[in-house]
Amino acid sequence: MTQSIIIDCDPGVDDAIALLLAFASPDLKVLGITTVAGNVPLTLTQANARRICELAGQTTVPVYAGCPRPIMRSLTTAEDIHGKTGLEGVELPEPTMPLQPQHGVDFLIETLMNSAGDIILATLGPLTNIAIALIKEPRIAAKISKLVLMGGSTTEGNVTPSAEFNIYVDPHAAHVVFTSGIQITMIGLNVTHQVLTTAARRERIRAIATPVSQVAADLLSRYGTQEVERGMAGSPLHDPCVIAYLLQPDLFTGHPVFVEVETGSELTMGRTVVDAWRRGDRPPNANVIQTVDANGFYDLLTTRLARL
Ligand code: BDR
Ligand code: CA
Repeated sequence: MTQSIIIDCDPGVDDAIALLLAFASPDLKVLGITTVAGNVPLTLTQANARRICELAGQTTVPVYAGCPRPIMRSLTTAEDIHGKTGLEGVELPEPTMPLQPQHGVDFLIETLMNSAGDIILATLGPLTNIAIALIKEPRIAAKISKLVLMGGSTTEGNVTPSAEFNIYVDPHAAHVVFTSGIQITMIGLNVTHQVLTTAARRERIRAIATPVSQVAADLLSRYGTQEVERGMAGSPLHDPCVIAYLLQPDLFTGHPVFVEVETGSELTMGRTVVDAWRRGDRPPNANVIQTVDANGFYDLLTTRLARL
């Protein structure tokens, strides 16, 4: 069965791999890509999304620019991880496919409101676009079939000791989304740190030996080895987990719990506080993923990338 999805993202190396995985999967119909400021500023994320579409021969997938900054805080970017361009490791040409003239938030609202309630949102960056769409047209909450997000953590953070990057960049947006009543699946660092880009896994991708797989391998040659200095076997491949979850949910386990986003304290700003032991009386608002079959994930990623 084909699932219709909209991907909201901030490419970003791992966003790029996630887009390639989606494009390689005929069981997903990508209705559009909305971009947001995050890993790099919006001017780069929207252009990078179009670069990846062109790389994968997906030039009919419409790409929209959304919000250029978080709701209340100033933008924090992650060039240290993704490089100055956001896609460090490769030099892809200037995209020639057009950026859509419509604002990403309006595309989200229009597409969801005209849908039968069967569209899945896959979010790979800060949640600014989704929150603004919810504020502008609250009725979209009932139209989103489910929202699968990369963000948060049940354990430690990566941008601060407390917080994961996507939620930290726009915690107020995350608060709007987590209190919206949408059916959320949260894939946080506690999961993505289980899918490391080991040398063997990177080699398997390079061995596909297609132009697209070479770009993927080149992207992972810097990004994928960054954490090795810190004693890890490779880097976490965060965003592709969202797409893998949609393709093969049985690779993952999780359970419904209540999640609240910290927006008050600077020390813990953007932390996803997960009530794993049901200490509060609030009902679950998210399916929080706990485990992933890492080898199964890389088998899926590698076999799908080989199709492009
Ligand atoms: C998230 O932050 C970004 O740097 C990655 O693209 C991913 O979405 C991981 O914390
Ligand atoms: Ca991202």
